[in-house]
Amino acid sequence: EMDKFIDDLMAKMTLEEKIGQLNLVSVGFDVTGPVVSENVDENIRKGNVGGVFNTFTPIAVRKLQDMAMNNTRLKIPLIFGYDVIHGHRTIFPIPLGLASSWDLNAIERSARIAAEEATADGLNWVFSPMVDIARDPRWGRISEGAGEDPWLGSRVGEAMVRGYQGEDMKANNTVMACVKHFALYGAAEAGRDYNTVDMSLQRMYNEYLPPYKAAIDAGAGSVMSSFNEINGVPATGNKWLMTDLLRKQWGFDGFVVTDYTAINEMIPHGVGNEAEVAALALKAGVDMDMVGELFLKELGPMVKSGKVTEEEINTACRRVLEAKYKLGLFQDPYRYINDERAKSTMMKKEYVDASRDIARRSMVLLKNEKNALPLKQSGSIALIGPLARNQRDLIGNWSGAGDWKKAVSVEQGIRNVVGNKVKINYAKGANLTDDAQMIRRLNAHGGDLELDKRSSEAMIREAVQVARKSDVIVAVVGESQGMTGEAASRADITLPGQQLALLKALKATGKPLVIVLMNGRPLALAWEHENANAILETWFAGTEAGNAIADVLYGNYNPSGKLTVTFPVEVGQVPIYYNAKNTGRPYGGDELDKYKSRYMDVPNEPLYPFGYGLSYTTFSYSKPQLSATTLQGTQPLEVRVDVRNTGNYDGEEVVQLYVQDVVGSITRPVKELKGFQKIALKKGESKTVTFRISADDLKFYNNELQYVNEPGEYRVYVGTNSRDVQAASFRLQ
Ligand code: IFM
Repeated sequence: EMDKFIDDLMAKMTLEEKIGQLNLVSVGFDVTGPVVSENVDENIRKGNVGGVFNTFTPIAVRKLQDMAMNNTRLKIPLIFGYDVIHGHRTIFPIPLGLASSWDLNAIERSARIAAEEATADGLNWVFSPMVDIARDPRWGRISEGAGEDPWLGSRVGEAMVRGYQGEDMKANNTVMACVKHFALYGAAEAGRDYNTVDMSLQRMYNEYLPPYKAAIDAGAGSVMSSFNEINGVPATGNKWLMTDLLRKQWGFDGFVVTDYTAINEMIPHGVGNEAEVAALALKAGVDMDMVGELFLKELGPMVKSGKVTEEEINTACRRVLEAKYKLGLFQDPYRYINDERAKSTMMKKEYVDASRDIARRSMVLLKNEKNALPLKQSGSIALIGPLARNQRDLIGNWSGAGDWKKAVSVEQGIRNVVGNKVKINYAKGANLTDDAQMIRRLNAHGGDLELDKRSSEAMIREAVQVARKSDVIVAVVGESQGMTGEAASRADITLPGQQLALLKALKATGKPLVIVLMNGRPLALAWEHENANAILETWFAGTEAGNAIADVLYGNYNPSGKLTVTFPVEVGQVPIYYNAKNTGRPYGGDELDKYKSRYMDVPNEPLYPFGYGLSYTTFSYSKPQLSATTLQGTQPLEVRVDVRNTGNYDGEEVVQLYVQDVVGSITRPVKELKGFQKIALKKGESKTVTFRISADDLKFYNNELQYVNEPGEYRVYVGTNSRDVQAASFRLQ
């Protein structure tokens, strides 16, 4: 039915009209590259535009859709995209935070709510999920993905696609997902954004590609190409990537859009001039050109000169039209535009409540010495830090439709949760940064960092006075939202500005020090870990950040999040990740043993390993029991472990299963996550958790890139994080 409809439509289309469908323009305020789309109205009327992004609200979308419907010959509706990344109007924690919940239902629900709101705003396409594996916290966009693990990243990607697309993409409350950034964008050298990627095929297939594939297998309708090159060929002009792998091997049948001006950027990459890079992208398998307009400008003449065929343009055009068909836009171009629905949907109480709940789940308790947390709901606190009263940063970046003025600050959240039972003494204590250049850059791109004009000594002095008259210090410190995300790489990943100096001065008062962190990447927190009584990682927690943080600080919610990225002791250890290889000279801990794979000046171990996170209660684990010592045929092996809540609070625990393939035809990681269960245990309660491992779970890509099982010895590790585990072994036959 779809094929026939599109055949008939394309039979009527001129070459120009077909090329017009391949053009995606930006109409709005979110400019993330050097150029903006020009003459948009005129181009829409001429049939030179297939889709629009950065425009939302029923009024604005209707206006543009009208232009296409009333002026173009064939009345082909526009598709409307937007960076709906962690919520649309109701903002959820940044993706790295969402992943830290290890709660796939919560993650799916956040995407579902985002889709409800986005579609009520006239949108039908979202540039999410971002599934780039990242192992380098210098890279600012580590905040936008699910972290370092391919298995967990795959599950998160699938959950988001389900949440966005629902059962039926035609429904007026579902959107088409866009898996990005294809591919390997997170492996940029030295953590510098847009930088070169050079990677072995083994590593690609086993460690970086699985989440893209999983999200595509979950039915994602579109894919976005990445800015980086891969082994010498820019992704956007990479035929091996876009056609051989994506379409032929993986069977992807949706459409590929470039990232912002990524075709044009192949010129400075050094692979051709305007005409050549346009042809390169089209022939590689790219269907839609975001903002760059090189398809629009170059493809017509290239067909005439015979360098590009009309057939190649037909292929891309068909895929774009299919997407519009799948979204139901040909049946009703105005399907997603409904003023009534817009009024009744945005930031509904139910959604805001969900944001608070999901935010609590995403927080990770990094330290809690002598039960410094939860705080008593009495006495006084010194609430100190540049983020304590802040609202702007709470919703993180890529929250363009979110209104930060609706975000609940930490101060307000504490008020909401404890009322007047606790006296709050406030001081700002430090600026987020004092780097004038960084401030100018952040403020030029949507930030509004206000520099307190006082000297940092004066600010710290005031904070110390406030601390002295309070029972406990709650220091809310971290990054500004614009210090993470796109084009926000940092070579120094400690707390910026004078914040560490502030913490040191606060520590010297002798008052208990609780650090509440907001940041979009692993930070190097050696001093903080050594000296704070408690540390709570809250990421950028969204609209309800303050309420959610107060819930955790005051024990209304017992933290249950776990890190999905490794936190290094210091930046020199980067890249550092749990599923590493053993090397031929693994360091065993003997100080004098020099010729081992180690540093002379810092440990090999991270500060906080992957999967790490504390609770107000404690859990004990039994040794894992296996149902058999060999895994044979299709019968899965069962791994059973008893987990008991041994502390004083009800709580949730993420029980983690790792596997090691001890001997392989290629070297294998020391551990790989293969499963987890998030369970709730009442105080004193114990549960048996059962995992099933089948031969399929143990497959990997060998040196010939065949996806195989290799018989032999395997170790199973179960525990509360990737470091603190107990082992058992079996053989795969
Ligand atoms: O979706 C984004 C992408 O992640 C980075 N460049 C711009 C795109 C559209 O805004």
